[in-house]
Amino acid sequence: MSHPLELSSVSKQYVSRKHRVDAVREVSFAVAAGEIFGFLGPNGAGKSTTIKIIMNLIRADRGTATIFGTPSTKAETRRHVGFLPENPALYDYMTGAEYLRFVGNVHGMPKQRIRQRSDELLMLLDLLPAAKRAIRSYSKGMLQKLGLAQAIIHDPPVLILDEPMSGLDPLSRVLVKELIVNEKKNGKTVFFSTHIISDVERVCDRVGIIRNGILKAVKEVAPLLREGIEAYRVRFAEHESSAEQEIMVSPDDLTTQMVAITSTGGTIRLLEPVRKNLEDFFLHIIRED
Ligand SMILES: Nc1ncnc2c1ncn2[C@@H]1O[C@H](COP(=O)(O)OP(=O)(O)O)[C@@H](O)[C@H]1O
Ligand SMILES: [Mg+2]
Repeated sequence: MSHPLELSSVSKQYVSRKHRVDAVREVSFAVAAGEIFGFLGPNGAGKSTTIKIIMNLIRADRGTATIFGTPSTKAETRRHVGFLPENPALYDYMTGAEYLRFVGNVHGMPKQRIRQRSDELLMLLDLLPAAKRAIRSYSKGMLQKLGLAQAIIHDPPVLILDEPMSGLDPLSRVLVKELIVNEKKNGKTVFFSTHIISDVERVCDRVGIIRNGILKAVKEVAPLLREGIEAYRVRFAEHESSAEQEIMVSPDDLTTQMVAITSTGGTIRLLEPVRKNLEDFFLHIIRED
Protein backbone atom coordinates (compact mmCIF):
# COMPACT_ATOMS: atom_id res chain seq x y z
CA MET A 1 0.00 0.00 0.00
CA SER A 2 1.24 3.45 -0.82
CA HIS A 3 1.53 6.05 1.91
CA PRO A 4 -1.15 8.67 2.56
CA LEU A 5 1.62 11.24 2.04
CA GLU A 6 5.12 10.84 0.71
CA LEU A 7 7.73 13.35 -0.36
CA SER A 8 10.73 12.36 -2.37
CA SER A 9 13.67 14.75 -2.78
CA VAL A 10 11.47 17.83 -2.98
CA SER A 11 13.32 21.08 -3.62
CA LYS A 12 12.14 24.63 -4.16
CA GLN A 13 14.11 27.80 -4.72
CA TYR A 14 12.46 31.22 -4.79
CA VAL A 15 14.17 33.47 -7.29
CA SER A 16 13.75 37.21 -7.47
CA ARG A 17 15.94 39.75 -9.23
CA LYS A 18 18.15 40.22 -6.18
CA HIS A 19 17.74 37.07 -4.12
CA ARG A 20 17.68 33.33 -4.29
CA VAL A 21 16.21 31.48 -1.34
CA ASP A 22 16.57 27.72 -1.06
CA ALA A 23 13.28 27.33 0.77
CA VAL A 24 13.14 23.51 0.60
CA ARG A 25 16.13 21.30 -0.11
CA GLU A 26 15.88 17.62 -0.99
CA VAL A 27 13.16 16.90 1.56
CA SER A 28 12.02 13.27 1.74
CA PHE A 29 9.73 11.55 4.22
CA ALA A 30 6.67 9.30 4.31
CA VAL A 31 3.69 9.57 6.62
CA ALA A 32 2.08 6.25 7.58
CA ALA A 33 -1.67 5.65 7.58
CA GLY A 34 -3.27 6.66 10.87
CA GLU A 35 -0.24 8.60 12.00
CA ILE A 36 0.00 12.13 13.37
CA PHE A 37 3.16 13.65 11.95
CA GLY A 38 4.41 16.99 13.28
CA PHE A 39 6.48 19.19 10.99
CA LEU A 40 8.46 21.34 13.38
CA GLY A 41 10.75 24.22 12.53
CA PRO A 42 11.40 27.88 13.24
CA ASN A 43 9.88 30.71 11.18
CA GLY A 44 11.17 30.66 7.61
CA ALA A 45 12.28 27.01 7.83
CA GLY A 46 10.31 26.00 4.73
CA LYS A 47 7.21 24.46 6.30
CA SER A 48 4.58 26.46 4.38
CA THR A 49 6.52 26.08 1.13
CA THR A 50 6.55 22.30 1.61
CA ILE A 51 2.83 22.31 2.36
CA LYS A 52 2.06 24.48 -0.69
CA ILE A 53 3.94 21.96 -2.83
CA ILE A 54 1.90 19.12 -1.29
CA MET A 55 -1.27 21.08 -2.11
CA ASN A 56 -0.01 21.95 -5.63
CA LEU A 57 -0.31 25.68 -4.90
CA ILE A 58 3.28 26.00 -6.08
CA ARG A 59 5.41 23.65 -8.14
CA ALA A 60 8.56 22.01 -6.79
CA ASP A 61 11.72 22.55 -8.82
CA ARG A 62 12.62 18.92 -8.27
CA GLY A 63 11.14 15.88 -6.57
CA THR A 64 7.59 14.66 -6.05
CA ALA A 65 4.90 14.71 -3.42
CA THR A 66 2.36 11.91 -3.59
CA ILE A 67 -0.98 11.27 -1.91
CA PHE A 68 -1.74 7.53 -1.74
CA GLY A 69 0.84 7.08 -4.48
CA THR A 70 -0.59 9.64 -6.90
CA PRO A 71 1.43 12.80 -7.59
CA SER A 72 -0.21 15.74 -5.81
CA THR A 73 -0.04 17.71 -9.06
CA LYS A 74 -3.08 15.64 -10.14
CA ALA A 75 -6.33 17.31 -9.15
CA GLU A 76 -7.91 13.97 -8.17
CA THR A 77 -5.68 13.78 -5.07
CA ARG A 78 -7.47 16.83 -3.63
CA ARG A 79 -10.46 14.58 -2.93
CA HIS A 80 -8.52 12.76 -0.21
CA VAL A 81 -7.15 15.84 1.52
CA GLY A 82 -8.48 18.35 4.02
CA PHE A 83 -6.35 21.49 3.98
CA LEU A 84 -5.84 24.36 6.39
CA PRO A 85 -3.71 27.06 4.71
CA GLU A 86 -1.41 29.39 6.68
CA ASN A 87 -3.85 32.30 6.36
CA PRO A 88 -7.31 30.87 5.74
CA ALA A 89 -9.42 33.24 3.63
CA LEU A 90 -13.10 32.71 4.36
CA TYR A 91 -16.16 34.47 2.96
CA ASP A 92 -16.52 36.96 5.77
CA TYR A 93 -20.08 38.07 5.02
CA MET A 94 -21.34 34.58 5.90
CA THR A 95 -21.86 33.33 9.43
CA GLY A 96 -19.68 30.48 10.66
CA ALA A 97 -22.57 28.02 10.39
CA GLU A 98 -23.47 29.23 6.88
CA TYR A 99 -19.87 28.90 5.77
CA LEU A 100 -19.62 25.31 6.96
CA ARG A 101 -22.91 24.53 5.19
CA PHE A 102 -21.53 26.12 2.03
CA VAL A 103 -18.32 24.08 2.18
CA GLY A 104 -20.28 20.90 2.91
CA ASN A 105 -22.43 21.56 -0.16
CA VAL A 106 -19.35 22.13 -2.30
CA HIS A 107 -18.16 18.69 -1.22
CA GLY A 108 -21.55 17.20 -2.10
CA MET A 109 -22.33 16.08 1.44
CA PRO A 110 -25.91 15.12 2.34
CA LYS A 111 -27.78 17.92 4.18
CA GLN A 112 -28.25 15.97 7.37
CA ARG A 113 -24.59 14.98 7.54
CA ILE A 114 -23.55 18.62 7.02
CA ARG A 115 -25.71 19.71 9.95
CA GLN A 116 -24.48 16.90 12.19
CA ARG A 117 -20.80 17.39 11.37
CA SER A 118 -21.02 21.23 11.62
CA ASP A 119 -22.61 21.02 15.05
CA GLU A 120 -19.98 18.53 16.17
CA LEU A 121 -17.04 20.63 14.95
CA LEU A 122 -18.47 23.95 16.17
CA MET A 123 -18.95 22.39 19.59
CA LEU A 124 -15.53 20.71 19.76
CA LEU A 125 -13.88 24.01 18.82
CA ASP A 126 -16.04 26.10 21.17
CA LEU A 127 -17.47 28.09 18.24
CA LEU A 128 -21.16 27.41 18.89
CA PRO A 129 -21.69 30.79 20.61
CA ALA A 130 -20.35 32.54 17.47
CA ALA A 131 -21.92 30.21 14.88
CA LYS A 132 -24.65 32.71 13.94
CA ARG A 133 -22.38 35.74 13.75
CA ALA A 134 -20.77 37.05 10.56
CA ILE A 135 -17.23 35.79 10.06
CA ARG A 136 -16.00 39.37 9.70
CA SER A 137 -16.61 39.79 13.42
CA TYR A 138 -14.40 36.79 14.31
CA SER A 139 -11.09 37.16 16.12
CA LYS A 140 -7.89 35.73 14.57
CA GLY A 141 -8.15 32.61 16.73
CA MET A 142 -11.82 32.06 15.84
CA LEU A 143 -10.99 32.35 12.13
CA GLN A 144 -8.23 29.83 12.60
CA LYS A 145 -10.61 27.37 14.27
CA LEU A 146 -13.32 27.86 11.62
CA GLY A 147 -10.62 27.35 8.99
CA LEU A 148 -9.83 24.04 10.62
CA ALA A 149 -13.51 23.04 10.77
CA GLN A 150 -14.01 23.75 7.05
CA ALA A 151 -10.85 21.74 6.25
CA ILE A 152 -12.17 18.56 7.84
CA ILE A 153 -15.96 18.83 7.57
CA HIS A 154 -16.13 16.30 4.72
CA ASP A 155 -14.14 13.65 6.63
CA PRO A 156 -11.13 13.44 4.31
CA PRO A 157 -8.69 10.60 5.12
CA VAL A 158 -5.65 12.90 5.03
CA LEU A 159 -5.37 16.23 6.86
CA ILE A 160 -2.71 18.76 5.89
CA LEU A 161 -2.71 21.61 8.40
CA ASP A 162 -0.37 24.61 8.26
CA GLU A 163 0.12 25.81 11.84
CA PRO A 164 -3.34 24.83 13.15
CA MET A 165 -2.49 26.08 16.67
CA SER A 166 -1.01 29.43 15.67
CA GLY A 167 -2.64 32.50 17.15
CA LEU A 168 -4.76 30.49 19.57
CA ASP A 169 -5.22 31.02 23.28
CA PRO A 170 -4.14 28.16 25.60
CA LEU A 171 -7.65 26.68 25.88
CA SER A 172 -8.18 26.72 22.13
CA ARG A 173 -4.77 25.08 21.62
CA VAL A 174 -5.97 22.23 23.81
CA LEU A 175 -9.25 21.97 21.86
CA VAL A 176 -7.41 21.84 18.54
CA LYS A 177 -4.97 19.22 19.86
CA GLU A 178 -7.91 17.14 21.09
CA LEU A 179 -9.60 17.48 17.74
CA ILE A 180 -6.47 16.29 15.94
CA VAL A 181 -6.15 13.28 18.26
CA ASN A 182 -9.86 12.59 17.75
CA GLU A 183 -9.38 12.59 13.97
CA LYS A 184 -6.58 10.06 14.39
CA LYS A 185 -8.89 7.87 16.49
CA ASN A 186 -11.31 7.93 13.56
CA GLY A 187 -8.57 6.55 11.34
CA LYS A 188 -7.37 9.78 9.74
CA THR A 189 -3.78 10.61 8.89
CA VAL A 190 -2.66 14.04 10.05
CA PHE A 191 0.30 16.12 8.91
CA PHE A 192 0.62 19.49 10.61
CA SER A 193 3.29 22.15 10.90
CA THR A 194 4.21 24.18 13.95
CA HIS A 195 7.02 26.34 15.24
CA ILE A 196 6.16 25.53 18.85
CA ILE A 197 7.91 22.53 20.35
CA SER A 198 5.31 21.73 23.01
CA ASP A 199 2.65 21.39 20.27
CA VAL A 200 4.18 18.10 19.17
CA GLU A 201 4.72 16.64 22.62
CA ARG A 202 1.47 14.93 23.50
CA VAL A 203 -0.02 14.77 20.04
CA CYS A 204 2.43 13.45 17.46
CA ASP A 205 3.55 9.92 16.77
CA ARG A 206 6.53 11.24 14.87
CA VAL A 207 8.08 14.59 14.30
CA GLY A 208 10.19 15.88 11.43
CA ILE A 209 12.46 18.79 12.20
CA ILE A 210 13.15 21.25 9.42
CA ARG A 211 15.53 24.18 9.38
CA ASN A 212 16.78 26.30 6.48
CA GLY A 213 14.84 24.06 4.12
CA ILE A 214 16.66 20.94 5.29
CA LEU A 215 14.92 18.08 7.09
CA LYS A 216 17.35 17.56 9.97
CA ALA A 217 15.73 14.57 11.68
CA VAL A 218 12.61 12.46 11.81
CA LYS A 219 11.95 10.96 15.24
CA GLU A 220 9.33 8.95 17.06
CA VAL A 221 8.09 11.00 19.99
CA ALA A 222 7.22 8.27 22.55
CA PRO A 223 10.76 6.82 22.86
CA LEU A 224 12.12 10.34 23.22
CA LEU A 225 9.81 10.91 26.16
CA ARG A 226 10.71 7.51 27.68
CA GLU A 227 14.44 7.79 27.17
CA GLY A 228 14.25 11.27 28.54
CA ILE A 229 13.58 10.11 32.13
CA GLU A 230 16.62 11.15 34.16
CA ALA A 231 15.37 10.34 37.64
CA TYR A 232 12.28 9.81 39.76
CA ARG A 233 11.08 12.13 42.46
CA VAL A 234 9.82 9.95 45.32
CA ARG A 235 7.89 11.33 48.25
CA PHE A 236 7.23 8.95 51.12
CA ALA A 237 6.45 8.69 54.82
CA GLU A 238 8.24 6.17 57.05
CA HIS A 239 5.18 5.76 59.25
CA GLU A 240 1.57 6.82 59.16
CA SER A 241 2.32 9.77 61.46
CA SER A 242 5.81 10.75 60.32
CA ALA A 243 6.58 13.74 58.10
CA GLU A 244 6.83 13.32 54.34
CA GLN A 245 10.32 13.07 52.86
CA GLU A 246 11.40 13.59 49.28
CA ILE A 247 14.28 11.90 47.51
CA MET A 248 15.53 11.72 43.93
CA VAL A 249 16.19 8.20 42.70
CA SER A 250 17.97 7.17 39.54
CA PRO A 251 15.94 4.91 37.21
CA ASP A 252 18.28 1.98 37.93
CA ASP A 253 17.72 2.22 41.70
CA LEU A 254 13.99 2.72 41.61
CA THR A 255 12.90 -0.85 42.39
CA THR A 256 15.38 -1.27 45.26
CA GLN A 257 14.33 2.02 46.81
CA MET A 258 10.62 1.21 46.55
CA VAL A 259 11.20 -2.12 48.29
CA ALA A 260 13.38 -0.50 50.96
CA ILE A 261 10.68 2.03 51.81
CA THR A 262 7.66 -0.27 51.76
CA SER A 263 9.25 -3.30 53.45
CA THR A 264 9.88 -1.27 56.62
CA GLY A 265 6.27 -0.07 56.80
CA GLY A 266 6.69 3.17 54.86
CA THR A 267 4.20 4.42 52.27
CA ILE A 268 4.86 6.01 48.92
CA ARG A 269 2.96 9.28 48.57
CA LEU A 270 4.23 10.41 45.16
CA LEU A 271 6.26 8.94 42.32
CA GLU A 272 7.05 11.29 39.47
CA PRO A 273 9.46 10.97 36.54
CA VAL A 274 11.85 13.86 36.05
CA ARG A 275 12.40 14.25 32.33
CA LYS A 276 15.06 15.76 30.27
CA ASN A 277 13.13 18.47 28.51
CA LEU A 278 11.96 17.46 25.06
CA GLU A 279 12.61 21.08 24.21
CA ASP A 280 16.33 20.66 24.91
CA PHE A 281 16.45 17.78 22.47
CA PHE A 282 14.73 19.66 19.67
CA LEU A 283 16.63 22.87 20.28
CA HIS A 284 19.87 20.91 20.09
CA ILE A 285 18.91 19.61 16.64
CA ILE A 286 17.61 22.96 15.44
CA ARG A 287 20.66 24.86 16.71
CA GLU A 288 23.44 22.50 15.63
CA ASP A 289 25.77 23.86 12.94
N1 LIG B 1 6.88 33.87 -2.37
C1 LIG B 1 8.11 33.91 -1.87
N2 LIG B 1 9.12 34.55 -2.49
C2 LIG B 1 10.36 34.59 -2.01
N3 LIG B 1 10.73 33.97 -0.87
C3 LIG B 1 9.79 33.29 -0.20
C4 LIG B 1 8.43 33.22 -0.65
N4 LIG B 1 7.72 32.49 0.24
C5 LIG B 1 8.59 32.10 1.20
N5 LIG B 1 9.84 32.59 0.96
C6 LIG B 1 11.04 32.35 1.77
O1 LIG B 1 11.26 30.95 1.83
C7 LIG B 1 11.69 30.56 3.12
C8 LIG B 1 10.71 29.55 3.69
O2 LIG B 1 9.46 30.19 3.94
P1 LIG B 1 8.20 29.40 4.48
O3 LIG B 1 8.06 28.13 3.71
O4 LIG B 1 7.04 30.31 4.48
O5 LIG B 1 8.67 29.05 5.98
P2 LIG B 1 7.83 28.62 7.29
O6 LIG B 1 6.45 28.27 6.85
O7 LIG B 1 8.60 27.46 7.84
O8 LIG B 1 7.86 29.78 8.21
C9 LIG B 1 11.80 31.85 3.93
O9 LIG B 1 13.14 32.28 3.86
C10 LIG B 1 10.89 32.80 3.20
O10 LIG B 1 11.30 34.12 3.38
MG1 LIG C 1 4.62 29.00 7.52
